[in-house]
Amino acid sequence: MKTILTGDRPTGRLHLGHYFGSLQNRVKMQYDYDTFILIADVQALTDNYDNPEKVRNNVKELAIDYLSAGIDPKHSHIYIQSLIPEVAELTVYYSNLVTVSRLYRNPTTKHEVGQKEHLFGSDGEGITYGFLGYPVSQAADITALDGDIVPVGEDQLPHIEQAREIVRKFNNIYGDTFKEPEAVLSKNTRIKGLDGNEKMSKSLGNAIYISDEPEVISKKVMSATTDPNKIKKDDPANPDVCMVYYYHKLFENENLDTICSECKKGERGCVACKKELASIISEYLAPIREKRKYYEEHPEEVERILKEGTEAARNRAKEVMKRVRKNMKLDYFE
Ligand code: TRP
Repeated sequence: MKTILTGDRPTGRLHLGHYFGSLQNRVKMQYDYDTFILIADVQALTDNYDNPEKVRNNVKELAIDYLSAGIDPKHSHIYIQSLIPEVAELTVYYSNLVTVSRLYRNPTTKHEVGQKEHLFGSDGEGITYGFLGYPVSQAADITALDGDIVPVGEDQLPHIEQAREIVRKFNNIYGDTFKEPEAVLSKNTRIKGLDGNEKMSKSLGNAIYISDEPEVISKKVMSATTDPNKIKKDDPANPDVCMVYYYHKLFENENLDTICSECKKGERGCVACKKELASIISEYLAPIREKRKYYEEHPEEVERILKEGTEAARNRAKEVMKRVRKNMKLDYFE
């Protein structure tokens, strides 16, 4: 059976961008693959090294988000990255196979550095070795567990490509050791924010979280960007520039055609349209909120799931590293 290896940084709750971008895919795929989902606390520290408390708290939150969204611990192992020291070891070996200039060219890290002036300076001059190199440790995350398939959002593609390059180089030098992992994107690769921004993101403040309560969802939807040319309730408008319509589409509203034609004819007020959307989203997320409540009330169960998941991941990584050390001629006393 092929292995899925994927995960997220524990830096905040998951939102609809995560859900439609990859989480939903992971939930569907977990039954057909050996699934490992990592909580990337080491990677989260690369740009939160000064805030270990935040990373620590979000490990539990992320685990609960996964479980509430339908990651089933009977089918998937959820594990904590820092508890797999083999990954740190493999990262060191990989670091010889990647040039610094190649890492500087990674568009995703480049973009992130631009958003983190407070940490890395306005021109990125202050970038750390750890942050620049996190795609190398991500390659180790994937390959240390023999990951074949990596369901992720579009922004992660450069990292998977980097991992594939490392694998090719490693196999060339040390002999056939790893398979090249493959990224899997979902149908909706990137989800727009409530404000119309191309990307839903916590830092842009335009996100609906999968754990949001109905009142919060309602308030957020009311603030969503609509056609700016529509001033009065019965002005005709263009649904194609309206975020409310965009989300009606995303949530596969059955009356999409009616909404579209009413909107174009000025027969649909934005307030009513938003109210309808808010209740669709609330209802859609209701089972997730319910499961979250359960796990919040049973922290010992979450802890057990994480412990067991981590143990399974560690066992797998130990086996893989035996192969690596042998091929790298580091198997001294074996
Ligand atoms: N880079 C991913 C993110 O920012 C998290 C991550 C770390 C990851 N290691 C991974 C994703 C391995 C897939 C596979 O969310």
